[in-house]
Amino acid sequence: MPIWSSLPFFLLLSVVSTLASSPSFENTAVVRTVELGGAVVHVTTTYAIKALEDGSNVYTIAFSPDERKKTSWLEAKIKGQQNALPIEERLFDAERDYHFVDITLPKALSANKTTNLVVETILTHATHPWPETAGQKDDQALKYTTDLFVLSPYSTTVQRTKLRTLAPRIISFTEPKGVEDFATEGSASKSGATIVYGPFHNLPPSATQKFIKTYQQPMTIHYFHDQPVLEILELKRAVEISHWGANVNTEDEITMHNAGPALKGHFSRLDHQTQQFYKKPAPHVLPAINLHLPAGIRDTYFYDLIGNVSTSRLRVAPSLPKNKQGSQYSLLELRPRYPLLGGWNYTFTLGWNAPAADSISYDKSTGRYIVEVPIMTLFPGAVINDAEVKVILPEGATDVEFSPPFPALENRISTHITYLDTSGRPALTFEYKDLTLKHAQNIYVSYKVSFAAHLKKPFAVATAFFSVFGFALIARRVNLTIHPKKKAL
Ligand SMILES: *[C@@H]1O[C@H](CO)[C@@H](O)[C@H](O)[C@H]1NC(C)=O
Ligand SMILES: *[C@@H]1O[C@H](CO)[C@@H](O)[C@H](O)[C@H]1NC(C)=O
Ligand SMILES: *[C@@H]1O[C@H](CO)[C@@H](O)[C@H](O)[C@H]1NC(C)=O
Repeated sequence: MPIWSSLPFFLLLSVVSTLASSPSFENTAVVRTVELGGAVVHVTTTYAIKALEDGSNVYTIAFSPDERKKTSWLEAKIKGQQNALPIEERLFDAERDYHFVDITLPKALSANKTTNLVVETILTHATHPWPETAGQKDDQALKYTTDLFVLSPYSTTVQRTKLRTLAPRIISFTEPKGVEDFATEGSASKSGATIVYGPFHNLPPSATQKFIKTYQQPMTIHYFHDQPVLEILELKRAVEISHWGANVNTEDEITMHNAGPALKGHFSRLDHQTQQFYKKPAPHVLPAINLHLPAGIRDTYFYDLIGNVSTSRLRVAPSLPKNKQGSQYSLLELRPRYPLLGGWNYTFTLGWNAPAADSISYDKSTGRYIVEVPIMTLFPGAVINDAEVKVILPEGATDVEFSPPFPALENRISTHITYLDTSGRPALTFEYKDLTLKHAQNIYVSYKVSFAAHLKKPFAVATAFFSVFGFALIARRVNLTIHPKKKAL
């Protein structure tokens, strides 16, 4: 399973819960690079590993409970290769201060053989604004805290951690203490937008209570960040498939939150317009955001609690039927009714229709339809705290099967009944937490619709039409004979 969502541990636990007695690897070098963002922090750790015995094929990495809690995605690969390696999280033992994740190498290494393993993780909710409030014309600064040492059950010859910010303006960073055993030169340095901790030499296995107690320490970096910190508190996506209309409707109900410093004082539209005019928008104010919507969409709508919002700009790319390759998208510059200031929320609905042929294919050999449903629209740099994705299949769909790209926290099947339906439509609901750019993937749903079910819809429309018509006739006739008030249903 390449993707590691913020799942309850029990969903991923492995039966193995004891660490192999003799270490089968050592790290010749461990380099961690942290790309500091706002809502999302991207961490890449490269382990140059050496097998100590023949047949070593499971390499174990370790995380502190805090790192584990913030990690919403994890992927391990051999450097330079495309395929993600299988990972399995071990049962958490409350007596340890760390989590273990086992990575299965593509093939076992024999003694003294080396390879480079790249582990990529995405952390969410890992930064916070400091100071917590800012005036409209002020800068925005964030704090991020991490542990000094990368935990590992193996000994490490040399280890470094680099923290990089987007803007080269770092206010302060913590200096490590009591690490003379491992550092020959200074243990922290700054150059431009990068802070480097280490190199640290000849570290013993660090995923031990003793090492953590003696040497592990929190490092905090305080830096300016020039982009709004955007969180989607809630996304509710409903995707409704209609074979009758050859249409797929996608509707998102979104609550956006600016998680940057809360606005101090009042919002001044004049200041805001002046800043826009001089192209120096305040870093913590979000006036608009660019979104990639699918190609070929039509009837796009965007409304909030007050009504239609008409200030956005949409450029639709031509439709791209399922069997054609390509990666075109429509571009929406979504402009909320008011600029989103620090601490503010904005709730809105965004929806569109798309030709069914763009996302549904039919497999003649199995008689099944297969539909591809994107879990989310990517909001650049944002995290989606809670997401619910509902796929509403056509009426009469049977033999429903689905395949999400990564396990959902919860999924269920229900029946969705709309006007003119005779028996309701099967609906699948998937729930997720802490989604980021890496999770912007598709759920595949396949189903059958019998020929009789295809006919049901026109039949339902026809009977509805006739019964309304019939009722009107009866009502008129009744009108003639009985007092009108009596005709109330
Ligand atoms: C591995 O390297 C060590 C040290 O260089 C050497 O003593 C040992 O014989 C080597 N083992 C194998 C299986 O090549
Ligand atoms: C909002 O826009 C839609 C589509 O453009 C339109 O059909 C609808 O009548 C509008 N509603 C209001 C309240 O303006
Ligand atoms: C934004 O929404 C969250 C969650 O619903 C709520 O706790 C918070 O008070 C809201 N903030 C504002 C400024 O309304």
